[in-house]
Amino acid sequence: MSGPIVIAVDGTAASGKGTLAQKLAEHFSFAHLDSGSLYRLVALGVVDAGGNPGNETDALAAARAIDVNGRDNVRLRSAAVGDAASIVSAHPAVRTVLLKFQRDFAAHPLGGAKGAVIDGRDIGSIICPDATAKLFVDATPDVRAHRRWLELTQRRAEPDEAAILKEIEERDRRDRERTASPLKPAPDALLLDTTHLDIDAAFAAALALVKPKVEEALKAVP
Ligand code: DC
Repeated sequence: MSGPIVIAVDGTAASGKGTLAQKLAEHFSFAHLDSGSLYRLVALGVVDAGGNPGNETDALAAARAIDVNGRDNVRLRSAAVGDAASIVSAHPAVRTVLLKFQRDFAAHPLGGAKGAVIDGRDIGSIICPDATAKLFVDATPDVRAHRRWLELTQRRAEPDEAAILKEIEERDRRDRERTASPLKPAPDALLLDTTHLDIDAAFAAALALVKPKVEEALKAVP
């Protein structure tokens, strides 16, 4: 492949793909894009404008207006915004607006880096089908819900693990069943099941999977 190196890290909600993508980017000194945050920004824009995430016109107006530098991290990471992001992401027009941003990022990684790591749902299948290496990260819903619960106990008093599991399953279902770029592994993606792995072991496994392809591609970069 010519051009910048791309590592696509797709996967289910709360699978750990964001943390893995960030660690891979640090390891290779590549730029990192969390594409889910783009859909979250669109969702936040719709909600703040008093619109309806299910309405394509409202979602498209918000997608055209997103400011990738003006992030509100606490609200952006909330479960409610994640849910609304999953709803706006089903609109094909929204995906078309964000596709351009993501492909531009892949073609011109920030800071002149030799490559980009992009995490999301359709990076290996639609956004960067020629990516240098593709991972698809998953874990059982129970384990993902438990990890999210542990994370939330550090911020909130008593998160409800059963409710978190329900949210995760609902989000996976919506992301898998939508017609526009549904969540599914690209045919050439390397599957990484993190059910029985902690973050260090998951990173070691991710690195072992992508390293041969990335190192080969780096040889061709001046
Ligand atoms: O990864 P996340 O939880 O921040 O993503 C929020 C939602 O955005 C997710 O439920 C579906 C949507 N999304 C998408 O459709 N395509 C992507 N590449 C990334 C996220």
